[in-house]
Amino acid sequence: MSPVRPAFVAGNWKMNGALATNAALLEKLRAGLSVCKTMEVAVFPPFPYLDQAARLLSGATLALGAQDVSIHAAGAYTGEVAATMLVEFGCRHALVGHSERRSLHQETDALVAQKFGAAQAAGLIPVLCLGETLAERQVGETLTVVMRQLEAVLARYGVHSLANAVLAYEPVWAIGAGRTATPEAAQAVHLALRQQVALRDAAIAEKLRIVYGGSVKADNAAQLFAAPDIDGALVGGAALNADEFLAICRAVNP
Ligand code: PGA
Repeated sequence: MSPVRPAFVAGNWKMNGALATNAALLEKLRAGLSVCKTMEVAVFPPFPYLDQAARLLSGATLALGAQDVSIHAAGAYTGEVAATMLVEFGCRHALVGHSERRSLHQETDALVAQKFGAAQAAGLIPVLCLGETLAERQVGETLTVVMRQLEAVLARYGVHSLANAVLAYEPVWAIGAGRTATPEAAQAVHLALRQQVALRDAAIAEKLRIVYGGSVKADNAAQLFAAPDIDGALVGGAALNADEFLAICRAVNP
């Protein structure tokens, strides 16, 4: 964690939640997050609950994000949700290229880049997820994969698009697996990503938040956040438990 970059901790609820449990979780987060003033915290509920979350978080420091976004502005795209609709429901961020979308829905680097652009065009901050599979790591392709995923966005929208975006390094083998990358292994990838951006624009690279995701829990967050290029976390399973998620937020300033 570096003092030049405010930490960003995001809770990706994935396809979990219900009106009653969401209300209880958000109420606890709202109460508990008055202690985390020097950082940004956001929750990413499923689409149908964005309205509920926006109302329950009204006036709170907690931001709201969506888990996905369409590349299209409007029209005959059954099941899709446009970025402008997310803005109307109070979203500030949108995840793009989460590995579950890439693998379960065959999202390509090119499509993810278009989602990044669609989110930004509507005023959303895209959280671009990058990460290698276990097989790719085992053959030493981690950096090749994450750089390819990053380059798809840079080639299309340029380095200036990263002035208003967040990167999330999420090794696929660590997501929901109960095992996390070591702080050293994650730091090495975060640093490499930052250096890659710095080749094009050093000032943007310095300010760019690169958060880590993949089995972040209360008991490993502080070690991860101690690494100089890890600027926060994208949290899945542990974001569904208010005490656990608040403990991760508190680990930003131990
Ligand atoms: P996890 O998920 O914390 O449950 O590993 C992280 C993510 O998929 O964003």
